[in-house]
Amino acid sequence: SVIRAGSYSDELVKTAKTIASPGRGILAIDESNATCGKRLASIGLDNTEGNRQAYRQLLLTTPGLGQYISGAILFEETLYQSTTDGKKMVDCLREQNIVPGIKVDKGLVPLPGSNNESWRTVVSITCGPSALAVKEAAWGLARYAAISQDNGLVPIVEPEILLDGDHPIERTLEVAEQVWAEVFHYLAENNVMFEGILLKPSMVTPGADHKEKASPETVAKYTLTMLRRRVPPAVPGIMFLSGGQSEMEVTLNLHAMNQSPNPWHVSFSYARALQNSVLKTWQGRPENIEAGQKALLARAKANSLAQLGKYSA
Ligand code: 13P
Repeated sequence: SVIRAGSYSDELVKTAKTIASPGRGILAIDESNATCGKRLASIGLDNTEGNRQAYRQLLLTTPGLGQYISGAILFEETLYQSTTDGKKMVDCLREQNIVPGIKVDKGLVPLPGSNNESWRTVVSITCGPSALAVKEAAWGLARYAAISQDNGLVPIVEPEILLDGDHPIERTLEVAEQVWAEVFHYLAENNVMFEGILLKPSMVTPGADHKEKASPETVAKYTLTMLRRRVPPAVPGIMFLSGGQSEMEVTLNLHAMNQSPNPWHVSFSYARALQNSVLKTWQGRPENIEAGQKALLARAKANSLAQLGKYSA
């Protein structure tokens, strides 16, 4: 390719475009076994391989999922896992034209010399963030992105800016601008091909404990301001995480962001905001599997419409 040396350029562009296709977004089910255990515990299930398999099978075999979901981020266990009928989970995705992805980090570790912050790559506004933590997060993401592209994998670049804290939305914007400036500086320095990456930002909202909630229009205004100032239009897709916001909040915020044309595909990559209702509906009971899948499809469809700017409550 003229854009970047390396044999995978065309494939990277194609994969990124497939994932960032109209009316579709990403289902994140890359919970580590420990985090998946917390989800299962919330409905009284033990954290066994069998229960994790049953839950992931419910999600990934949902009929019609591919209409709204273009990619699924898996944890390593699921990459090699089969359904109870012996079909690879990955093949269930491929049949629905859903691109399988894999979580590549191995969890958080303390970052020495920082304000008790963690690597990689959460950015905590309540702890600072320190310049060191931001630089380390940005550099680590850029190296990860370059290595992924060299191996034919589209990197999802995610400096996870936590919602925790009581700060106003202006402070979140300030931190987000600082973080994304450094991320793009190092992505460029590492010769990452922007057409072959996807971003996974946090929406720009007030801290979760701030005295006032922001309206979807305000969240959209601040988040789009951050994106326009920091993200080149060569990047095909912006796939927001849900970050602990409610299912309804994230859908309304996404819908508000898609009320006017954007240079990028502005969509979703949620874990909790796609899974919460499913867990509550399923309760670990075989007779509730179909209802659980319907709950997933309902959330996926709502966010698909929000991606198109056509959601109505
Ligand atoms: P949430 O949507 O629950 O914030 O999770 C997103 C994520 O980072 C999982 O990969």
